[in-house]
Amino acid sequence: MSQEVQDLEASAAASGNAATDRFRTSGKTGTAVASPERVSLIVNEVLGAVYDTVRKHQVSYAEFNVLKAWLISVGEDGEWPLFLDVWVEHVVEEVATGDRSGSKGTIEGPYYIPEAPTLTTPATLPMRADEAGTPLLLSGQVTGTDGAALGGAIVEIWHADDDGFYSQFAPGLPEWNLRATVIADDNGNFAINTIQPAPYQIPTDGSCGKLIAAAGWHAWRPAHLHLKVSAPGRQLLTAQLYFEGDTHLSDDIASAVKSELVLRPTPTADGAGREVTYDFVLDPE
Ligand code: DHB
Ligand code: FE
Repeated sequence: MSQEVQDLEASAAASGNAATDRFRTSGKTGTAVASPERVSLIVNEVLGAVYDTVRKHQVSYAEFNVLKAWLISVGEDGEWPLFLDVWVEHVVEEVATGDRSGSKGTIEGPYYIPEAPTLTTPATLPMRADEAGTPLLLSGQVTGTDGAALGGAIVEIWHADDDGFYSQFAPGLPEWNLRATVIADDNGNFAINTIQPAPYQIPTDGSCGKLIAAAGWHAWRPAHLHLKVSAPGRQLLTAQLYFEGDTHLSDDIASAVKSELVLRPTPTADGAGREVTYDFVLDPE
């Protein structure tokens, strides 16, 4: 394959390295403040769990060396963001949002980009003229846990296309394809026209894919819309919305599905697409 053709192919290393670069410039690095006591406690407990596993399962030198080589390759492929977001983020999200009484959220994943083009409701996401996929209208209202309608609330939305690819992480897609920052009306109502994304496989040709194959797992996430919903004085809600009937709702590789996040769209009056309402309730800061 020529280099030119290779450059146009979506690859795990390309999307992994893009996700790594994105994380490095996200402002999230190095912001955790932990005392030496806390670092020691947590690292010792993690290592203790590793020691227990090695003893319990009599892990061999050959297996230890495979692990070492694999960990090196995860970094080389830029797949640490993918690995951590698929296999660890869900429990961090659970801890971080455990005291909320508003809408459920879930993991952000590796493909969020801030400052997508701003649109006012009713909005149509940036997409190609021939964008594949069933048209989908998502509408709803943003309120607070106190019942207040949150006029001007911001609904950031991003999702994969009908082939499961995210703009800016796969080649050949317009920069902001299927990404936008939508401003709700004075009553917090929003309406967003897009297409229904396809079920998505995390990249299978990189190190995370090798782990999945070696363990005999599958790489699927159910189809999903990613959202960040915010308003002044309220906690930011990071969520994903899924679709009833998706075969991978019960075995998401990223363990990020919650029953409250499953949409039940119905056909539109003209039969051309589907529509659904979903309201977001934000906790106070
Ligand atoms: C991954 C991709 C996603 O689209 C997502 O929502 C979560 C994780 C990943 O490839 O790691
Ligand atoms: Fe995703």
